[in-house]
Amino acid sequence: MNVLGLMCSHRRDGNTNDLLDAVLNRVAESPDVNVVKETLLDYKIGYVYDCKACSKEGSCVNDGDDMQHVMNRVYEADVVVFGSPVYFYTVSTCLKVFLDRMSCYYYWKADELGGVDKLYGNFREKLAGRGGAVVSVQEETGYDRAQHCIGCMEFNFGFFGWENLGYALGPGGSRGNALKDADAMKQAADLADKIIAFKRQPAA
Ligand SMILES: Cc1cc2nc3c(=O)[nH]c(=O)nc-3n(C[C@H](O)[C@H](O)[C@H](O)COP(=O)(O)O)c2cc1C
Repeated sequence: MNVLGLMCSHRRDGNTNDLLDAVLNRVAESPDVNVVKETLLDYKIGYVYDCKACSKEGSCVNDGDDMQHVMNRVYEADVVVFGSPVYFYTVSTCLKVFLDRMSCYYYWKADELGGVDKLYGNFREKLAGRGGAVVSVQEETGYDRAQHCIGCMEFNFGFFGWENLGYALGPGGSRGNALKDADAMKQAADLADKIIAFKRQPAA
């Protein structure tokens, strides 16, 4: 099983990274799992423009940026663990930009719009049956501060046709806070065990 950890904090060595590593390191102890980690900020990913050029022309105004590289990592994965801090009560900026660009891959069906389907289109058929999980941290206390970050990803898992494997939520703020939090570490371990037990469903 291939597990992708997508680190979407804008601090490379912050609490999101620590909590995501706690999940990935435990998952990697399973002999059947191959773990790949990507840090989204390492890549240049342009905004979506809702131009639908991908469906009409089979190309994108952003062609040449790194979206395809990250999408390839998603395509290779059986489970994707998204690590995002709470930014203004929702997902981080780089993750939102990435999600918006995913629309080019799943929403516009090239055949329906009279265009060609090369890389783009029919995303849901290609990706259905996988598992998704969320790791998040927040500075304020209480689950409700993170509910739109975690909920955003959970709704997306439903939309992609993925099984929702759950989340681990920890304290943010100063570096190291999540690692010192026993409850966050327990959530990370429990989430890792759910990921290890996951069996990918064949795409319909
Ligand atoms: C732009 C921005 C917006 C934030 N908004 C919130 C928020 O709405 N609620 C909250 O609890 N923390 C908020 N925080 C705090 C972060 O969630 C917290 O510092 C977290 O630890 C950042 O993740 P990191 O440790 O991986 O860098 C915000 C931080 C930034 C930079």
